[in-house]
Amino acid sequence: MLGALVALCLGASPGAKAVMARFECHRCHEVEGLAPPPTVKHCAGCHRELAGSANDAAKLEQGRKTYGDAFDRFVRRTATHYVDVPPLVSMRRFRASWLRSFLADPLDLRPHLTESMPRLPLTPADLDALTSGLPADAPAPAASPEQLALGARLFEAKACTSCHLFGTRRFPSQPAALFEVKAPAISVLARAPDLRHVRDRLNRDVVVKLLRSPRAVNARAQMPNPGLSRAEAEALADFLLQGALGPPVEPEAVPVAQHVGPARYEDVEARVFRKVCWHCHSNPDFVDGEGGPGNTGGFGFKGAGLSLATYEEVMNGSLGPDGEYRSLFRKGPSGEPVLLEVLRRRVEENARDFVRPGHEASRAPLASAGPLGMPLGLPALAPDDLALVEAWIAAGKPRPATPPGLQLTPMGR
Ligand code: HEC
Ligand code: HEC
Ligand code: HEC
Ligand code: HEC
Repeated sequence: MLGALVALCLGASPGAKAVMARFECHRCHEVEGLAPPPTVKHCAGCHRELAGSANDAAKLEQGRKTYGDAFDRFVRRTATHYVDVPPLVSMRRFRASWLRSFLADPLDLRPHLTESMPRLPLTPADLDALTSGLPADAPAPAASPEQLALGARLFEAKACTSCHLFGTRRFPSQPAALFEVKAPAISVLARAPDLRHVRDRLNRDVVVKLLRSPRAVNARAQMPNPGLSRAEAEALADFLLQGALGPPVEPEAVPVAQHVGPARYEDVEARVFRKVCWHCHSNPDFVDGEGGPGNTGGFGFKGAGLSLATYEEVMNGSLGPDGEYRSLFRKGPSGEPVLLEVLRRRVEENARDFVRPGHEASRAPLASAGPLGMPLGLPALAPDDLALVEAWIAAGKPRPATPPGLQLTPMGR
């Protein structure tokens, strides 16, 4: 017990830190003991800074002067990605078994955070380093029905329901907005995990300690201190670890869309490649040689040499293992073009990992070993946008009518 509490106070081990530096976890997360990367690589830092301009009249004015009308769009669009990624501090609160399975095969923890933990090429040795020194599972003794009922009452009385979901179980005091999937304006809501995961993530001693003082367990906790007695914290902990989560509800079926009308490259670019993809598949000439993780490499990936910034580069394709460029429209194992395979794979990954609030499904394994779903760590394309890409390929991939060319956006992205 004492050992576990002492361990909680220590930072990440040197081995874990080395892995986190190599995989650049600090481009998205604040990582204890690692200095933030330079701005051009700092997904979270740059987004936070731009999004923060919304509340700063001087910055807004300066930005509009430099970038014109586009600046308001920058502020709006950066605000919905990587601003509320949880900091990686006090990692020793997690069970080793949970952290290992989460990193090997991530799932959505926070119903109101649009981006998710990406699947990274971590090896078993990397996972050993990241989880070494973390506590083993310590199953809690069965709690009495009275204790669980007390915990459930406290869960409502202490307003836990104003920020947290508990699987699909609904509480009368829960605001309806918690069951919607829009990005919340308040960080604390985006950061609040669905508490159905607590039983996999944390041991009972840690939960009790956290409920008495969130900061004592998680140095950067945003959760307000609920001010509980020891007995109340224990009842709540038992409830979180053993209380009924509500019935499993299948996620809603993804509608299938059909594209009507001409399928122009300009639309594919505006709605897909230049909207979401090129932030990781950029032309390195834009930003100091930084082509993004999907092009020049990053997040532990070698890089696929793929830029989705212009029509010519899309046609140029990606680098194969032999160092030669190969087409994105080459047939993959399913017989479809690789580009469509990776987009469909993300739809499949989302249906399993990215659960709508209150629509928790059983965690069935993914259908088969497949390619890495794209966009990596982000919501799958909307059905209309996927249909547009399909239609553009089916129409013979028409080139843009306007002469293309590398137009540098003022932000360099
Ligand atoms: C130097 C600042 C900067 C950095 C670094 C940066 N971004 Fe962005 N990001 C932006 C701006 C500006 C926009 C809005 C672009 C626009 O509106 O055209 C944006 C938009 C996005 C979007 C699109 C959001 C939407 O509306 O769908 C995604 C996804 C994204 N960035 C991902 C990333 C990732 C992943 C990284 C790290 C590999 C990253 N960004 C690094 C500035 C940055
Ligand atoms: C592209 C951005 C990105 C990168 C790179 C990244 N993560 Fe994450 N990670 C996320 C996001 C977003 C979440 C939140 C997911 C959620 O809550 O559903 C997350 C969640 C986590 C969590 C859960 C934390 C908590 O408090 O619930 C851990 C642990 C974690 N990441 C570890 C890592 C490690 C270790 C690395 C590097 C090996 C890494 N991440 C790299 C985006 C990233
Ligand atoms: C104002 C919003 C808010 C309220 C109210 C709130 N929490 Fe939290 N809670 C959070 C956030 C955000 C986190 C993520 C860590 C952090 O930033 O504190 C969290 C984390 C947790 C965790 C750790 C979960 C994990 O898997 O790591 C537990 C357990 C928890 N809350 C239980 C409760 C209980 C029980 C109550 C009621 C007494 C409560 N919370 C009230 C926002 C809230
Ligand atoms: C958060 C970063 C990120 C985003 C956003 C992203 N990708 Fe990727 N992409 C990667 C990484 C990393 C790889 C793998 C690189 C490697 O294997 O080294 C990759 C690989 C690919 C490949 C495989 C190339 C091949 O020939 O095997 C395709 C195709 C692809 N991405 C398409 C897309 C499309 C289309 C989008 C937008 C819908 C997108 N990506 C958005 C990071 C990203």
